[in-house]
Amino acid sequence: MISRPDLRGRDFLAEQDFTAEELDYLIDLARQLKAERAAGTERQRLIGRGIALIFEKTSTRTRISFESAIAQQGGFSTTLDSATSQIGHKESIADTARVLSRVYDGIEYRGSDHAIVEELATYADVPVFNGLTDTWHPTQMLADFLTMREHTATPDQPLSFAYVGDARFNMGNSLLITGAILGSDVRIVAPRALWPTQEIQERARELAARSGARITVTEDLREGVAGVEFVHTDVWVSMGEPKDVWAERIELLRDYRIDSRVMSMAGPQAKFMHCLPAYHDTDTELGRAIAAEFGLDDGVEVSSEVFDSPASIVFDQAENRLHTIKAVLVATLSEGEVD
Ligand code: CP
Ligand code: NVA
Repeated sequence: MISRPDLRGRDFLAEQDFTAEELDYLIDLARQLKAERAAGTERQRLIGRGIALIFEKTSTRTRISFESAIAQQGGFSTTLDSATSQIGHKESIADTARVLSRVYDGIEYRGSDHAIVEELATYADVPVFNGLTDTWHPTQMLADFLTMREHTATPDQPLSFAYVGDARFNMGNSLLITGAILGSDVRIVAPRALWPTQEIQERARELAARSGARITVTEDLREGVAGVEFVHTDVWVSMGEPKDVWAERIELLRDYRIDSRVMSMAGPQAKFMHCLPAYHDTDTELGRAIAAEFGLDDGVEVSSEVFDSPASIVFDQAENRLHTIKAVLVATLSEGEVD
């Protein structure tokens, strides 16, 4: 039995709203739910519970994880977007929150501005879950930390990881803050123009002073990745950003691309992680366009050689989205015993 902080009724908007104990609990619960499912002994804890899933940006993993987790736990969901519903153009976020609260037991929201998911949570009477905003990607963090804990060779020591790439967006921010809360050795490796804001860096250092985390924010790739067990990256241009930033972003990040040279700077033990989707080949429209225009024909943020190597644990990471999102739903919405 896992010691259980009571998260019933809580929103899940940003990592910094949670203590280390609460995040550890959610990761441990996900591990338990994953084991139950693998053993064929999954117990349904969300029978009859309904969750509205709003996706104002596209999604594969987050959407399938919410929909599957809810169905596997006996609940039901409705997936909405602003193109096929009234949200945004005909109905405000505040009114949408109040309507959905009359029908559903929880609301997931994916969109751009973090203030929107906060507004939704202010007006909703049910828990609201952040499925990604420009600033934070908290459900991804639970999956990333579960995956690192599953793969670390030294489970009794703090995790060490580097995030290399565009560090001023959701993934860079979230890995920095979550690592700071959970006491990790966190390296943010990026050109200065793409570092997390000063405010987020200061917040990370405050959290680290309490947890014992080690925070490094550096432009120096070799120093940044030296000795880490996990090397993370993400796309260089995120959803919602204009296409014309690609040229400037490639100029800034070309030397930070994860290839076998960077993995060997980290060390022979290093594993590669990416929240996905990834531009690692020319099998996507965008991958082809970037290759044609900028000559990056063996991957943009990561080479195929690394992406497809034994060091890559990206599909374990993707699977863990299901188990960790299920843990958030069970912890916040189940009425009976969780464990
Ligand atoms: N990692 C992630 O959030 O993937 P999707 O955009 O496919 O949901
Ligand atoms: N930074 C990426 C993450 C995708 C899961 C984006 O926001 O598009």
